[in-house]
Amino acid sequence: MEVVNGDYRCQPQLTACVAGQLTLPLCYIRAMQELAGKHIVLGLSGGVACYKSAQLCRLLTKAGATVQVVMTEAAEQFMTPVTMQALSGRTVYTSQWDAREANNMPHINLSREADAVVIAPCSADFVAKLAQGRADELLSLMCVARPIDRVPLLLAPAMNREMWAHPATQRNFAQAAADGAHVLGVGVGEQACGETGDGRMLEPEELLADIAAFFTPKVLAGHKLLITAGPTFEAIDPVRGITNLSSGKMGFAIAAAAKTAGAQVTLVAGPVHLSTPRGVRRINVQSAQQMLGAVQSQIDQASIFIATAAVADWRPANAADQKIKKDGSGDVPALSFVENPDILATVAQSERAQSGALYCVGFAAESHDLLAYATAKRVRKGVPLLVGNIGPATFGQDDNALLLVDASGHRELPRASKTALGHQLVAELARRVPATTTRL
Ligand code: C5P
Repeated sequence: MEVVNGDYRCQPQLTACVAGQLTLPLCYIRAMQELAGKHIVLGLSGGVACYKSAQLCRLLTKAGATVQVVMTEAAEQFMTPVTMQALSGRTVYTSQWDAREANNMPHINLSREADAVVIAPCSADFVAKLAQGRADELLSLMCVARPIDRVPLLLAPAMNREMWAHPATQRNFAQAAADGAHVLGVGVGEQACGETGDGRMLEPEELLADIAAFFTPKVLAGHKLLITAGPTFEAIDPVRGITNLSSGKMGFAIAAAAKTAGAQVTLVAGPVHLSTPRGVRRINVQSAQQMLGAVQSQIDQASIFIATAAVADWRPANAADQKIKKDGSGDVPALSFVENPDILATVAQSERAQSGALYCVGFAAESHDLLAYATAKRVRKGVPLLVGNIGPATFGQDDNALLLVDASGHRELPRASKTALGHQLVAELARRVPATTTRL
């Protein structure tokens, strides 16, 4: 079993149709829900990462936000205001003496209109200014002049690894955070200077996701969610096995949505080729027995358990140690099977689940009569909420339709991207998780 602290990359190859003909990467769809109609002041301080801010500006506007760019003199060394004006569709501000403003106070006017100020890149020098409350040019002046209770300040650090690790820089970011700024993460890897390490600015798609996440209500704050996802693989011999077509996408989408909604999320994943949602802890497993072991090792810490995994019902009774060879006789190997443990039912019967301290959610993939089967399965598994979907219509797809069945009846979540459904399910969950469930 391997514990991976993976990072999330928005996957541009995943597309979903929204608004009729428009086809967009899934990350935009989520961002659109949170950012449409928002007004973002995008501040650029000096750094090579300014090239990523051009793409961020584009992504923000595609997500439905209006973007007002403000640049420091140093930022203009890396990116022209012309480019940022073209991408944002608005005149760029670079000076506190900009006479275009009737009252000659751009630092006041710009900050009063904003739903958030995002500094990307935020250089070591710029955060030093913020930490000291200095205000000798437009961008820092505007940060200090913003209504601190109403206009959040998000910082996307970008610098060389030594600069990032320097105690003064760390001290300055800590001070900025203590003064109310929200400091986003940094990327790891090769840097423009040729060195490798922490301090790169996050990629534009990651920043978009983080900015959208910032605006997402934290309806699961304080909860620890454990979720299974993907298929299992039951070995026949060292090179063969039995598995199924589950892609894991629905479970990964729920994990990402729950993280965005403020939960601490542990994802127990069968063999799938999906990136780990950023901030989610992932435990990779292969077989149903390994999945049960991983779940049991984590379940005592959880307040919510969601079983989306397509666990194999049976496994070969005796997996061969060596590859089973054809012997030329034409005889086929005789395989016998034993039943796998039912992970969900096992957890649902535990004392914490029975007492209401752990809220359990099951999934049912059916081919027909979804309501009848899902209703019966909810009772059989002993869970308060069962989510049904039509297996053949959703396995491997980027969209799905869900049927929520609980003791009081059922509710449909119509066909939508799995990302969107993950967020809808999290909202439903937040309404249902009883107040008595321990927020750990
Ligand atoms: O019995 P069935 O496989 O249809 O039940 C589906 C639900 O039970 C899903 O939530 C699935 O993750 C869970 N399950 C499980 N362990 C099994 C079989 C199913 O946790 N061995």
